[in-house]
Amino acid sequence: MYAYAVNATLGDDVYSEPSTTPVIYQPTYHALEAHIAQLTGKEAGLFMPSGTASNQIALRTHLKQPPYTVLCDHRGHIHRYEVGGTPFHSGAAMTTLIPSNGHHLTLSEVEDNVIYDTDVHLAPTEVISLENTLNGTIFPQDEIIAISEFARSHNIKMHLDGARLWHVAIETGLSLKELCDAFDTVSLCFSKGLGAPIGSCLVGPTEFIAKARRFRKLFGGGMRQTGILAASAAYALNYNFPLLVNVHALARKVQKGLEDVGVTILSPAETCMIFYDASSIGATYDEIFERGRKLPEPLILGGSRVVIHIQTSEAAVDDFLTLIRDIAGEKKRAGFVKPETNGQTHFKEVYVRRVSH
Ligand SMILES: Cc1ncc(COP(=O)(O)O)c(C=O)c1O
Repeated sequence: MYAYAVNATLGDDVYSEPSTTPVIYQPTYHALEAHIAQLTGKEAGLFMPSGTASNQIALRTHLKQPPYTVLCDHRGHIHRYEVGGTPFHSGAAMTTLIPSNGHHLTLSEVEDNVIYDTDVHLAPTEVISLENTLNGTIFPQDEIIAISEFARSHNIKMHLDGARLWHVAIETGLSLKELCDAFDTVSLCFSKGLGAPIGSCLVGPTEFIAKARRFRKLFGGGMRQTGILAASAAYALNYNFPLLVNVHALARKVQKGLEDVGVTILSPAETCMIFYDASSIGATYDEIFERGRKLPEPLILGGSRVVIHIQTSEAAVDDFLTLIRDIAGEKKRAGFVKPETNGQTHFKEVYVRRVSH
C-alpha cells in the first residue's frame, strides 16, 4: 500500500488537475473514480473524505427544496450515526422504520410508510436510503429490486449506503454493478472492510456527481493532493478485497464457537460481524472487556458486536472463544442457568461501543 501511495500522482483534485493529459498520466483519484464508476455501472464517481461525507453530500445533492422526507431503516447509519446530518444539512424530515422481520425492510413496509405529495400537512418522501450490509447483514437483492421498482414508479430517488457493499459482493457472488443497479447513487467506503486509511467514493449520474463535487467543496471536503489516498484505496481494492472471503469464514467460526458454549446470537455472521448476548451466559460486556484486556495477548473487545477484519488472526479468534468458554464455565459453576428463550433471539438493541480489535 505504501508503494502504491508513493507512486501516486499529485494533481490537485479540487481543480481536477490536469484535465487534458492522457489516461496513463491521470492523477490517481481520477483513475480510481472512473474505475469505481465502471465497476458499479454508474456514469461517474467522486472521491470523498469519509462515508459520512459521501452519504450526506449525496442526500444534499438529491434534496433540493424542502419540505421532504428521507425514508430509511431505524438502524441506518444516515439516521443514527451521522450526527443528525440529514435534517441538519438538507432540512429533511426522516421516516425511520423498524423492520418487522428484525433483519431488513420489505416492500410492503416501504409502501405503507411512503408519504405521497397529496396532503398539505405532510413532507413527501423524496429519497429512500437503504444500507447494505447493515450491521453486517445482507439485504436480500430481490427485496431491494422490488423497493426500487416501486420507488422509481413514484419518482422517489434511491440512495445506497454501501460502505460495506464489498462484503455483499464477496458473499453473494453478485457483481457490484448488479448490487448497485437498483440505486441512483451509491456510497462505498475504502477505509472499513477494505483496510485503506481514508476515503469513500460516491457514484451516480454525471450531472449529479458534478453537483456533488460542488457540495463537497462547500462542505470542506475538497482535499487537493488526494492521489496518495486514492492510490492506497486502489491497493485495498486490488489486494484486500479478495481477503474478505477469509474474514467471513473467520466470522462464521466465531459464531459457531459462541453457539457451542450456549451464547445467544443476536445477529448472525452473514459477513464480518456477529452480535451476541453476554447475558445468555450470565456475563456482562464490561466483564468480558476487562478479561480480554488482561490476556497475555490482549483483546480489545467492544459490546455485543464482534467485527472480524483482514488483520484479525485466527489465534485472536481462538483466544476470544476460549475466554468466552472459560467465563461461561465459571458462571455455570456459580449457579447460572440460561433462561428459556424458545429458540428466539432477543434482538434487543445493545449499544455498540465502537472499539476495534
Ligand atoms: C454503514 C456505514 N455507513 C457510513 C459510515 C460512515 O463512515 P465514516 O466513518 O467514514 O464517516 C459507516 C462507518 O462505520 C458505516 O458503517
